[in-house]
Amino acid sequence: MLEDTIARLFAPPKGILAMDGSPATLDKRLAARGIEATEANRRRYRELLLTTPDIERYISGAIFHEETLRQTLSDGTPFAEAARARGILVGLKVDQGLAPSPFNPKEEVTRGLGGLRERLQEAKQRWGIRFAKWRGVYRIDLEEGLPTPEDIFIDSVELAQYARVCVEEGIVPMVEPEVLMDGVHSIEESARVHREVWSEVVTQLTAREVPLSTVILKASMVVAGSEFPGGPASSQTVAVETVSALTDTLPPELGGVAFLSGGQTSEYATANLNEIAKRGPHQWPVSFSFARALHAPVMERWGGNDAFWEEAQEVFLHRAQMAALARLGRYSEQCERVPENPECAV
Ligand code: G3H
Repeated sequence: MLEDTIARLFAPPKGILAMDGSPATLDKRLAARGIEATEANRRRYRELLLTTPDIERYISGAIFHEETLRQTLSDGTPFAEAARARGILVGLKVDQGLAPSPFNPKEEVTRGLGGLRERLQEAKQRWGIRFAKWRGVYRIDLEEGLPTPEDIFIDSVELAQYARVCVEEGIVPMVEPEVLMDGVHSIEESARVHREVWSEVVTQLTAREVPLSTVILKASMVVAGSEFPGGPASSQTVAVETVSALTDTLPPELGGVAFLSGGQTSEYATANLNEIAKRGPHQWPVSFSFARALHAPVMERWGGNDAFWEEAQEVFLHRAQMAALARLGRYSEQCERVPENPECAV
């Protein structure tokens, strides 16, 4: 059952839509585009995404925030039901955000283990969720010595504890240890931290006897910090660093790797995924689980004005098609400009 869910989520050429931004995060993004930050607008925006015609050609699963489980489309259909009716598997973000670490106020740990089992049971029974995501965050700051070994350890233990509960409840854990790209660090520094983090996550999952074939790793790509003086690395370099760090730290039986976009531009994240795919086949299925790289330009186009609803949906379909091409290693600038070109068909 869990392996079947993973096979469906990774069915080529599809990937997973992350639309699980918390109300606070989504409100910030809406407000930054001059859209009133209200629950009604969060709901409308999510409806715009999920009702995009043909999106199921490229999207196999969608991660919701719990707010979305309680919301309905304008016609009264619950979001989870609408997704399932289109063959899109429903996932849920089950962590409850970040809090300052008790050991080092400069770091943050993730909250949400309390009541986790009951929340999973209810969401599975009521809304049919098939997978659940938990995000741990690791910030690189060389001057401050971050991330500390304690932070890497604590976040990894939490990820493994949550994953264990998911598996016991028949839900695929999507384990997301995100190494942030904020900062001035080089790509080599990012690679070092990614290796430490992924190794520790695997160690803790193994210690808790979580079968790795039932786990999806939601991975950040190994990129230079957004403020690195040398600028962004080429997609070829990102792919070499990312693939070698993954190969050195992850066991072959892992269920799959789905990349987050982490604040990269849509084109950069897509080109990086494309180069990673071109270096395959890998030991595990590799796909995308972007939020911003898939739909930041969608919100931009919509701007809260429904006169642009269909145009915004076209932008979303385009980004999803580009990501699907990239997971097959077939993305190009040509397809970015002329997606209807026969060689860009997915
Ligand atoms: O937790 C973060 C999301 O699941 C992925 O978002 O692609 O914008 O980094 P992102």
